Amino acid sequence: MASTLTRDPPALAFTHRFEPATKAGAAPLLLLHGTGGDEADLLPIGRMIAPGAALLSPRGQVSEGGMPRFFRRLAEGVFDEQDVVRRAHDLADFIGAARAAYGLAAPVAVGFSNGANIAAALMLLRPEALAGAVLLRAMVPLSDPPAGELPGTPVLMLSGAMDPIVPAENAARLATLLSARGAQVEHRTLPASHGLTSADLTAARDFIARIGKV
Ligand code: MLT
Repeated sequence: MASTLTRDPPALAFTHRFEPATKAGAAPLLLLHGTGGDEADLLPIGRMIAPGAALLSPRGQVSEGGMPRFFRRLAEGVFDEQDVVRRAHDLADFIGAARAAYGLAAPVAVGFSNGANIAAALMLLRPEALAGAVLLRAMVPLSDPPAGELPGTPVLMLSGAMDPIVPAENAARLATLLSARGAQVEHRTLPASHGLTSADLTAARDFIARIGKV
């Protein structure tokens, strides 16, 4: 898939793609793919929902039978929480290094499935890493996260009413967890399964248009 790389990527810890902003004042997006995806996957969605914004898109460093992920799981929906913690810190450190290398403001994460779950873990463990988040089909990534504050952090959670992977109760628990830390959470359940629909993209675009300014 083609993307615009105007310079060699600096030697950062994650394989990634970076597209510089073409519009001033647009918050950068951090694009986090789902299981089996890679750093190219969400670039078209990023361009669509935040035209002109800088896009930073890392590839998850865990391989599950050759499928990239952002942390290990023991079974579907059962996470290796020690690995979640370690990988969330690694990703937060990468974000800091990439911000310095590319001159970026704190990004708004747009994560799908496993990417949404690592974005949720980032917000629970390193709340300063993100300016906001769009969590597409997210679930609770850590059963007992440490205390933290997310004062006013805007979060859009989009769940699927027919999602066979994310129980409705689990998604609701994540929304409550983030709200309790002060995040401004908008949680919507769409008539969808685990896969994304055009309604996800429209809602994400509208949300970014409202909050994605620097
Ligand atoms: C996860 O493992 O993060 C979730 O089960 C979503 C998935 O990647 O299938």
